[in-house]
Amino acid sequence: MGRKLFALSLFLALTACIQSDPFSQPSPEATTEQTSTAAATETPEQRAARLQATFPAQQREPEDPAQVAQGQGIYDVNCRGCHGQDLRGGDLGGPNLLRSNLVLADQKGEAIGPVIREGRTPAEGVAMPPLPLTDADVIAVAAYIHSVAATAQPQGAPPPGAVAELNIVVGNAENGQRFFEARCTNCHSVTGDLAGIATSIGTAENVQNSWVAGRRFGNPNANADPTRRFVKVTVSMSDGSSVSGVLGRRDDFIVSLTDDFGQYRSFSLHGNSSPSVTGVSVEDPLAAHRALLSELTDDLMHDVTAYLVTLQ
Ligand code: HEC
Ligand code: HEC
Repeated sequence: MGRKLFALSLFLALTACIQSDPFSQPSPEATTEQTSTAAATETPEQRAARLQATFPAQQREPEDPAQVAQGQGIYDVNCRGCHGQDLRGGDLGGPNLLRSNLVLADQKGEAIGPVIREGRTPAEGVAMPPLPLTDADVIAVAAYIHSVAATAQPQGAPPPGAVAELNIVVGNAENGQRFFEARCTNCHSVTGDLAGIATSIGTAENVQNSWVAGRRFGNPNANADPTRRFVKVTVSMSDGSSVSGVLGRRDDFIVSLTDDFGQYRSFSLHGNSSPSVTGVSVEDPLAAHRALLSELTDDLMHDVTAYLVTLQ
């Protein structure tokens, strides 16, 4: 173990000399290219299934395969000894990255990157040394981690092959009610939109999946794009006008929307059209669900579910 660690630190010191770029935000060009390449490899069925998935790690756009392959190489060399071959933790004492809220919240390395660059010193056990990877390597290794996380079993899912009924109504409904009143009543009401939700949804497991995902559990229409229809966008123009509607697509070059009259509109962000676009603001109410997840403990999740199943 001692010798292994010594060899590891020697290696890390060497990589430190070779790669010394400071971490900065990935350049927009790099990320756009990644999204469009990856999105192009996805069939409409795969896209629909991804958007219907319950857990955020599975709703992400697929990563660019080339970037994932590059990231895997970097991971195997720099991270695997501590975080394990399957990300569940390794011989040298790194934590399980599949259950990491930081990894869950990360999009393209902006949260994982600083951990890599600065290292981590836990209260006891082996520390994670700072690893001065380049920006491109950080983005690639993050893509690899997300690609593995996307294939992991969701929390609460029974192990593959298990037939036992899962009893997830193990929480404290009063705690759940307190949390609900503090955090959910901005957007929901137990006498309004969520009235009788336990009866209409059926099983406790489906109630939990529904509220965690922010999606009515039921017979999903394969072509529906449920995360989209709430996402509003407002495009401001240089002449002071603005156009709002339901977001179609947004990347670094273009934003498109369907306005209140059902008209499809698209705006170039870099063209020299006049008037030109001066601002784009996106409002996604389901972002609240995703943000909530990263602060939920298993207990809290069970408490909220225990409360919601009382809404018969
Ligand atoms: C020498 C062992 C070691 C190596 C090598 C290592 N890690 Fe870690 N890593 C750790 C330890 C230990 C922690 C947890 C420290 C703590 O408890 O705060 C950690 C924490 C993390 C976290 C934060 C998890 C969280 O939820 O807070 C991320 C992300 C991470 N490592 C990614 C990586 C990546 C990516 C690499 C390779 C580029 C890597 N680590 C290399 C040991 C290591
Ligand atoms: C910022 C607003 C917001 C907050 C806060 C919020 N939600 Fe939601 N929630 C939404 C939106 C938007 C939807 C999608 C609504 C739809 O499908 O019609 C949704 C959907 C849901 C659904 C599925 C809806 C259905 O009709 O079956 C459940 C259940 C749910 N949320 C529970 C919760 C719980 C529990 C909390 C608090 C822990 C919470 N939400 C917090 C906005 C919010």
